Amino acid sequence: MQRFLPSGRRLAPQHLCAMMLVLAIGISGARSRRTSHVGSGNKELVQISCILPNNTHMYAHIPRVRPALDIANDYIVRHRLLPDHQLDFTYADSRCSPTYAQIEAIDFYMKGKTRAFFGPVCDYAAAAIGRINWHWDIPLLTPGALVQDFGENKTVAGAQFPMVTRVGASFDSMSGFVVTMMTQFGWRRVKGLYERHTNTEVMDENFCYLAMNALYAVIARNGLPIGTDEGSTFFEMPTSQDKGDVLRNEVGVKYAGK
Ligand SMILES: *[C@@H]1O[C@H](CO)[C@@H](O)[C@H](O)[C@H]1NC(C)=O
Ligand SMILES: *[C@@H]1O[C@H](CO)[C@@H](O)[C@H](O)[C@H]1NC(C)=O
Repeated sequence: MQRFLPSGRRLAPQHLCAMMLVLAIGISGARSRRTSHVGSGNKELVQISCILPNNTHMYAHIPRVRPALDIANDYIVRHRLLPDHQLDFTYADSRCSPTYAQIEAIDFYMKGKTRAFFGPVCDYAAAAIGRINWHWDIPLLTPGALVQDFGENKTVAGAQFPMVTRVGASFDSMSGFVVTMMTQFGWRRVKGLYERHTNTEVMDENFCYLAMNALYAVIARNGLPIGTDEGSTFFEMPTSQDKGDVLRNEVGVKYAGK
């Protein structure tokens, strides 16, 4: 990032969105073999299908994303970043559900105009479309899809999500942050405590379990010497048990200090 951002200059959200859009058009333009559609002034019409939750409890939802994309589009038009293209955003409610997200994606595909999908953000919904969009040659960009599987190598044969690009933080980047901190401070012992039923608007359960999974995988990949005879594992917080007991029994002095 450093190379592209002059120091002392912050990247405003509309610049980031504009970059994302230019990237999406770049990807879909380069790969698309579909017929082009003509917009006003003979510009090529580029439809971006945004399949996002309409539920405002989610961190990225239609009422929040739509104005950001409008601002980004204004920026693109004003600075003539895509002089030969006219962007057209269409929205559908993913309901954070693999079933509904997939139905919306298929409907968009059948209309034959979609050049890129923005969203879904919920992991299971993103996975449902991420497993088929490569077959249509339509890229999927999302600020969500946090679990590790989306970050797997996309160029190996049989990759699960070859045309999914994440543009935000993920469980991998969170894990990278923790591992960097551990290395910096020379920490060697880790005990992860998590709750099962959290962030239930994204998935019914396991959100934090999957976050822990990613963390431990990244710790192992970095060869940090934990989880040997100490049996460093993560622990599900029982809803009923006293949190003080959990800290005493599960963390205790075994995981205190370095
Ligand atoms: C989102 O919800 C609002 C309010 O209920 C509704 O007017 C709008 O049509 C919905 N948008 C989509 C894409 O479903
Ligand atoms: C991804 O897989 C390709 C092909 O097997 C390999 O050349 C490349 O180094 C891998 N990339 C990463 C980041 O592991």
